[in-house]
Amino acid sequence: MQKYKHFIIVTVLVLLTTVVLKYVVFGPMFRLPPAASAESAPIDALFEGHFWVISFLFALIMVLMLYAIVVFRRKSGDETDGPHVHGNTTLEIVWTIVPVFVVIGFAVWGMVALGQLLQEKDDEMVVVVTGKQWEWSFAYPEQGVKAAQLVLPVNQPILLEMYSPDVLHSFWVPEFRVKQDLVPGRPTFLRITPTEIGNYKLLCAEICGMEHANMVADVRVVDNATFLAWMEERSQRIDYAALTPVERGALWYGPEGDGGFGCNSCHSLDGSVIVGPSWLGLYGSTRVFDNGTTAVADDEYIRNSIFYPGQQVVQGFVNQMPNNYEELFAAQEADILLNDGLEIDIVADLIAFIRSLNE
Ligand code: CUA
Repeated sequence: MQKYKHFIIVTVLVLLTTVVLKYVVFGPMFRLPPAASAESAPIDALFEGHFWVISFLFALIMVLMLYAIVVFRRKSGDETDGPHVHGNTTLEIVWTIVPVFVVIGFAVWGMVALGQLLQEKDDEMVVVVTGKQWEWSFAYPEQGVKAAQLVLPVNQPILLEMYSPDVLHSFWVPEFRVKQDLVPGRPTFLRITPTEIGNYKLLCAEICGMEHANMVADVRVVDNATFLAWMEERSQRIDYAALTPVERGALWYGPEGDGGFGCNSCHSLDGSVIVGPSWLGLYGSTRVFDNGTTAVADDEYIRNSIFYPGQQVVQGFVNQMPNNYEELFAAQEADILLNDGLEIDIVADLIAFIRSLNE
């Protein structure tokens, strides 16, 4: 019994410390956000498993070390040498084999979980996600609807088909647990079955430039009736003729998912600087360029700045604006002419909108 005394005490202390660490220290320290998708279960189970192992290893090392320091410390008056220890082959084999199997175990567990996440489900609804510098937009091809926010019916298996036209972005809603990069040049896919009605945030989880931190979109998980009503509302074609040029300008300024050109991701309306100059007080102001020349911001200047953004760059800014707006606007104008019989000039609408900010 005396022989096993230390062994028994250390075992009990290690087990107790493991439980305390798991529930009192690591549990509260690394709490996950509420789980809101079917995919959360296997991932949260893996997290739990890892935290148990982490707690156990930390307890094993710390308890053994502290126990040895306290119990086997040199007694006063003891001037003899400590015993010479020359390794322990059994111990070394055990502490090599056991971790190998633990790691293999986690690998297999992770593979099984990944398999579950990638598993195709019956009756999947496809949502096309586009992430670009620096906004998200969503399209529902089956319903012919586009949006700037991601609205999903609860308990409906979703297949996200994701594209990036510029650099790497990453789709991440912490409550859904799963995460997937968007890779320029090829689609990537992610499966989600939202299980909790509520409002969430989609974050970009890959550094993608100046406004990476603000590349956020609203995610709403709603009941089926709310989803159908929202679809119905979104599938109405915008009545461009009923809008004034200023109202149309505000629409073009807004996010792509709402039918705009996403100017809002780089130009503020309140004087703050995002990536490009604010539009507040822009019209009629004197612009100073990086080569020292100046110009007054009139219609001509604004049109030129939209179509050829690199020609006159305002001092203190770096031109990061796409240079294809002339084509994009022409395509949109042709579409509206064809479908609504309405001739519009998008730049003129934008100028009217910018001027209206001065009032
Ligand atoms: Cu997109 Cu970070």
